[in-house]
Amino acid sequence: MNTRASLYQARYGSPDVAVPDAGSPVIDHLLAHSSVRAYLPDPVSDDTLAAIIAAAQSAASSSNLHAWSVVAVRDPARKARLAEFAGDQEHIHKAPLLLVWLADLARLEQVANKLGEPSSALDYLEMFEVGVIDAALAAQNAVTAAESLGLGTVYIGAMRNKPEEVAAELQLPTRVVAMFGLCLGTPDPQAPASVKPRPAQSVVLHQETYSLPAQAAGLEQYDEAMRAFYTSQNMKVRGTWSNHSAKRVRDGAALSGRDRLVEALNKRGFPLK
Ligand SMILES: Cc1cc2nc3c(=O)[nH]c(=O)nc-3n(C[C@H](O)[C@H](O)[C@H](O)COP(=O)(O)O)c2cc1C
Repeated sequence: MNTRASLYQARYGSPDVAVPDAGSPVIDHLLAHSSVRAYLPDPVSDDTLAAIIAAAQSAASSSNLHAWSVVAVRDPARKARLAEFAGDQEHIHKAPLLLVWLADLARLEQVANKLGEPSSALDYLEMFEVGVIDAALAAQNAVTAAESLGLGTVYIGAMRNKPEEVAAELQLPTRVVAMFGLCLGTPDPQAPASVKPRPAQSVVLHQETYSLPAQAAGLEQYDEAMRAFYTSQNMKVRGTWSNHSAKRVRDGAALSGRDRLVEALNKRGFPLK
């Protein structure tokens, strides 16, 4: 049984982190999150999926538009093809269920068409953002729900590497695009996932106005915390978090095909005006 202090220590990778007086079982649950990349083959039942989707639908939605959808993929052959589009990540093959979360403006276009109304607002970047935000909020609720049922999850941003191929595989209509995948399954107890530290709150929390200099000390601590984390996991530490992050934003080539996302979105019916 985790004490609240141990949850905070793991979350911030520090033995002397301040533990707030406020707390709840839900917050404790959130603090214990870690992405899971090793799964048992046990299937995820339809009932479990229904409960997870109900949790996802319980997220807030911009103007109650529900500009998102999700495709549940269990067929190993389809999952393997999607895995290939997403850098052939092993955990996509292994997870019994892959949920592909979609920004979905097709439904709204259809609703407007049915009423004989125009729908040119769907051409704007703003409406695409509505779909992305709605999909992300729903998916994160699904993650929390799945974890509460003893399942493990990992997001798959690499689902955006080849948007046209993913769209063809899932038979997505125009104005629908995959934002990310989410692997789900029972965590393999032989390969338990550890809580990965986050930067100190001084890095992300600003009081009243924003400050970059106020983040410097916290980021230095974070480089150390992540170095210690990788060492504890027997992972090859390739530089600090700062090095790793700088590499990730170096240039368009670091985006694994996603440097042409605007072109792909335009083709998929998102002019992004
Ligand atoms: C939108 C999004 C996309 C991600 N894409 C991938 C991915 O393609 N492959 C992967 O193994 N992990 C992926 N992750 C997982 C992150 O690497 C992980 O959340 C991060 O390292 C923090 O670790 P934690 O979730 O265990 O706390 C993604 C996470 C998010 C939020």
